Formats: sequence, C-alpha cells, structure tokens
Amino acid sequence: MVTMPEDIKPEFPKKFLWGASTSAHQVEGGNHNQWTVWELAHASQMAQSAQKRLGHMPAWPDIKKQAQNPDNYVSGKGVDHYHRYEEDFDLAKNLNLKALRFGVEWSRIEPEEGQWNEEAIEHYREYIKQLKKRGIEPMMNIWHTTMPVWFCDKGAFKYRSNLKYFERFVKKLADEYASQLKWIITLNEPNVYATYGYLVSEPLSGPWPPGEKNALSFARVYWNLIHAHRHAYKILKRANPSLQVGLASQLANIQAKRPHNELDELTTKTMRYFWNWWFLRRVRLQMDFVGFNYYFTDYYTELGKRKDPQLPLSDMGWYMEPEGLYPLLLSVWRHYKKIPIIITENGVADAKDEYRRWWIEESIVAMERAISEGVDIRGYFYWSLLDNFEWANGWWPKFGLIEVDREHGMKRKTRESAKWFAEKIKKLS
Ligand code: BGC
Repeated sequence: MVTMPEDIKPEFPKKFLWGASTSAHQVEGGNHNQWTVWELAHASQMAQSAQKRLGHMPAWPDIKKQAQNPDNYVSGKGVDHYHRYEEDFDLAKNLNLKALRFGVEWSRIEPEEGQWNEEAIEHYREYIKQLKKRGIEPMMNIWHTTMPVWFCDKGAFKYRSNLKYFERFVKKLADEYASQLKWIITLNEPNVYATYGYLVSEPLSGPWPPGEKNALSFARVYWNLIHAHRHAYKILKRANPSLQVGLASQLANIQAKRPHNELDELTTKTMRYFWNWWFLRRVRLQMDFVGFNYYFTDYYTELGKRKDPQLPLSDMGWYMEPEGLYPLLLSVWRHYKKIPIIITENGVADAKDEYRRWWIEESIVAMERAISEGVDIRGYFYWSLLDNFEWANGWWPKFGLIEVDREHGMKRKTRESAKWFAEKIKKLS
C-alpha cells in the first residue's frame, strides 16, 4: 500500500461529500420499466447459461446456486428501499455519511406518456426531506439506464425527436425539486449504456436492453445523449442557477501494458480518447463538476487487446487496482482544470467483505495524493450503500456497505468494512 510522506498532510475540504451511491431501479423494488420487461423475458435463459458465462470465475463455487436460479435475474421487490428508505437513511447516518446519491425512477413519475404520478412525485419530495433532516446532502440522479416502457417503444434515445420527452421530464423534476437541491446529475454512464445496449455484449452477462448490435444505432444514441445532457443542463440551471449540475461518466484508468511500445501506446491513447474523453469533451461547457465512476484499470496491448493482470479479482472477476484512481484523477484534472471533481461511484463486489476495507483505504490514499498535488476533489461516493440488483448479473454480486438478506425479510446488516469507513470519515471530517 502507498502511504503519504510524514511532512505532507493533505486535507479533505471541510464540506467534503463523504457519501454512498444507489440507483432507483437497483434498490427500490416494484418498478415497471424496460429493464423489468427484459429481466422477465431473459431470466431462465440467463440461469441456463450461467455456468458457461461465469464458471471460470474464482467466485463460481460460492455464487453458482444463485446464478443458476432464474429468480436471481429479476429485480422484483428490489431491497424494498422504496418503502424502507428512512431505515436506510438512519443506517447511512450511523456510518457518518454526509451525502447520498440516489436515483429518481422516470417510469414511476411518468408511467404513461404525459401523465404525472403525484404519489411518486411526493415520494421523492419526502425522500429529500428525510435525508436533509438527518444532515445528509441529497444528490439526485435523473437518468440511470432505466426508462418508461412507452418511451422505449418509441425508440428511446435513438431518435432526436424523442428528446422532447426527456426534456419534459427534466423540466418536471426542475419544477418540483430544483429549489430543494444543491447537487444534481443528469446521466449515468452514457458510454456504458450506449455500448452494451447498442454495440457489444457486456462481458459477463451478455447484451443489455434493447440488445441491438448496430454501430449506427450506437452512434445515434451516444450523440443524442450529448444533446440530452446539454438541454437538461440548461433547464436545470434556469430553474435554480445555484444548482451544481454534472454527469456521472464511466472512466477507466487506461494504461499501456508495455509503456515504451509504440503500438501499445497508440491503442491506449485511442481507447482513452473514445472511452474517457469523447463524451466529456462535448459537454465540458455544461458541467459544474466532473463526476465520474471508477472501477477499472485496464492495460492495453497492440490491436486493442485488454491484458489485465490475473490477480487479485473481485467476485465479478474484475481485476482490482483501487490505486488507479490516482492517475485518473490527475488526468481528469489536466483535461478539465478549474472544474471540481466528484467521484460519483467507486466500489467492489465482495460478498465475504475481504477486500472492501482495503479498497476504500487505497481509494482514500489515492485522493489524498491527488489533493496534495492541487486537484480539487469535492466528494467520494462509495458504490453502493446497499446490496443492489446488478443489472444483467442480477443479485449475486454484493457491493453494499450494508448487506441485505432478501431471503429473510430484507434484513439489513452493516458490513465490518463499512464500520471502519465510518470511523475513517469521522477522523477525516
Ligand atoms: C453503474 C452501477 C453498477 C456499478 C457496478 C456502474 O457502472 O453505474 O449501476 O451497479 O457500476 O457494476
């Protein structure tokens, strides 16, 4: 582990947002959107293909029962966060968290085209109120991959003419909530959504809805999401000029496997440009902060081959290099100087809670190093507050600071690593 030299004492800003992240669909339960439709249609096929997809992973013996059960692939009751959010906020408070990034579910707020569901609108108003009551800063996330079925039936973000529906939704959110918020995120990981929904399969779980593999559709969706963000930014700032608006992009610490090999360097630069910077560059004038999610360091050799070291692997089979956050912070800072940075997601799937503390500790060291070099970081949101529905992988991956036993009344239990994190936040605040 890298430690800081004695004479350097980097300080996290007083108002640093020590937080955790969730997304509506992954925890709420009881949703009806394009993902729930997809889940029900694919659950048995996913269970049948589990061994083929996941059998090579070190965690296979532990996950196989769940991964081979079709129920694993259905979000269903979620972790019932929709009803238990106050209990979850109390747990977050006990963890000394200062902020929570949460999602609003479009399909609840506008279940039918143009019809607002007042109960859902009221729900999120109360949600924000209850967070604030506990001194937890709410950071709202507008779009995290899920959408109403009626919007997807029209082709979702594939058509520019559909942006008006998204904008009307954003306007509604702005009218209802902008005055109560300081922080808001428009989109989560447009690169991941466009890639897995429209271009290639997700490596472990296969395609994501709508499961198209068409480069033209991919390009259209990706471009339209740029416009969606730009328009949303304007709408939100008009409603509340002091609102801090950003997005949560998925950035990887992309490195050359052989740093002096010209071919490796070339692929690395190309991958960095397309995966990390392409979208951000186009919205840099519409960002009050650069929000990004960090999970991976990827090493590239010639011809775009990803060659990561084999160990250590998380339960998801992802190579773990938490300290990769440091070079990434520096390069984000280099690219978007003067725009503060927020790490909107960072975490590890670790059912046995073996690595989580180490992961968070390394991430904190990476932030300290970057801060000591002048990088302006305003917040760190661990993914996730609760065990969550991990998209096409379903329920077996366990990311939560808080474990949820879905078999036994959705019982919550704070993991040991989370208790350690709580103490650390106290010391650093
Ligand atoms: C997504 C989350 C997801 C997490 C872990 C991020 O890419 O925003 O929805 O659960 O990664 O896979």
